[in-house]
Order: sequence, then structure tokens, then C-alpha cells
Amino acid sequence: MKTLVANWKMHVGIRESAALARAALLALRGRAHAPDVVVCPPFTALADVHKIVARSHVAVGAQDLFWEETGAFTGEISPRMVAETGAAYAIVGHSERRRLFGETDETVGKKTAAALAHRLTPVVCVGETAEERAAGRTEAVIGRQLRAAFASAALHEGSRVLIAYEPVWAIGSGHPASPQDAVAAHAFLRRVFRDEVKGGGRAREGVLYGGSVDADNAFALLREDEIDGILIGGASLNAAQFTAIVAAAGDVLEGLASRS
Ligand code: PGA
Repeated sequence: MKTLVANWKMHVGIRESAALARAALLALRGRAHAPDVVVCPPFTALADVHKIVARSHVAVGAQDLFWEETGAFTGEISPRMVAETGAAYAIVGHSERRRLFGETDETVGKKTAAALAHRLTPVVCVGETAEERAAGRTEAVIGRQLRAAFASAALHEGSRVLIAYEPVWAIGSGHPASPQDAVAAHAFLRRVFRDEVKGGGRAREGVLYGGSVDADNAFALLREDEIDGILIGGASLNAAQFTAIVAAAGDVLEGLASRS
């Protein structure tokens, strides 16, 4: 299976989120081979978007969450509040949150654990900066981020987690990682997850790529077996682009079906 996660960031309100959600439903309609689609509107639009996509193959995710259940935490949104909207996923540790809002490996770990405890599928983002990459530290950085994200997480039988490899230099830059570089990073992350995080457990992981994915490069990324899906920012705000990305995923899935 291939999974497409659309991260609408703080670009759209309730009305625009509803329109994008309807466009996502239309993009999937009638396709014999359709990817799993997760749309992530701002918190204020989660419940409305969930009503629109209920009983479809489109799921809803939050862009963040706090780790406590309830309490005096002005401005925060708890995992239970996220789940109450009908959302089934939560993005955790996006580089914008790390860079602009002081998230650390430790807080990302608390959020991942909280999401899993509430049966939300975390979409854990990791990625190196341009400087870290130039210094040959990509694996050291993303390995550290991944281990920290799951340091206190209880993985249940049947838990599903998504790991998004999002090189910071590729986000919003128009310069995605090459499929080969993404494959190498994915293979590394999967190995760390399987050997050091999951242990003998039966949690299932998917490794997604994110950073300047668009209709032109989606097929080349998605056709790689190592790439279980993509996290799409800017291009997911344009219904025509998003529809073309869904079509690219459909083509890949059709190819996979004919291979087996
Ligand atoms: P982009 O964003 O697709 O606009 O590069 C990806 C992300 O930030 O998740």
C-alpha cells in the first residue's frame, strides 16, 4: 500500500479545508487502485473535515498534539481532544515545530507516546538540515531523532506508526531529495526502527518521504519499494496537483498489482 499524507499547515480555514477534503474524495472516486489518504487540516477544521470524509478511504490527522490528557495548559490540544474530532492520525515533530516552536527530541518523544496511548497513528517527522547533511551527519541525526521519538512509546500489538523522512533543506524549497537518497535514508530508518525500537513486537511501520513532493516527482518517489508513501505540503493545497499525485500513486499501485 502507499499512503499520502496532506499537511495543509496554517494555510487554510474551515471553508477551504472542507473544499480540499471534497477534492480529495473526488480524486479517489472510481479508482481501482487508490492510495490511503490522510488529510491534516488545522485543529479548527478537524471535526468538519472528518464529517465530510466519514465512511470514505480518506482519514483525518492533526498537525500536532500535546501529551497531557487534561489540565491547565492554556492553548494546548490533548490527544483525547484530537481523537474526539474523529482524527485517527497526528503529525509529531515536524521540522517547523522543532525550529519555530522549540520542540526537542524529548517533547517529540512525549507526543509520540501520547498519540500511541490514544490509538492515534503518529506521523513522526525526522530530517537533517543542509549543514548536517554537508557534514555527513544525516544518519546520526535522523537515527537520534527516531530513537528519541520512540524512547517512551508503548507499541501495542497491531500499532501502526508512520515515520516521515523530511530533510529540512527539501521542505518548501522546490528541491526534493533524489529517489536514491530517499531510499537510502528510508532503509536506514526502517532498520533502526525494526532493530532498536520495535524489538520483537508486531507494530507495523510505514516510512514516508516529505519535502517538495509535487505531481512531477511523485511517481518516481512512490515507485520505490522502500518508499511507503509521501507527506505533501504545498502541492496538497492545489486540488489539481493533489489529484495528479493521487493518480501517480494509483499508477504505481496498479504496476505493483500486475507484478504480483
Ligand atoms: P512541502 O512541505 O511539500 O511544501 O515541501 C512538506 C512538509 O513540510 O511536510
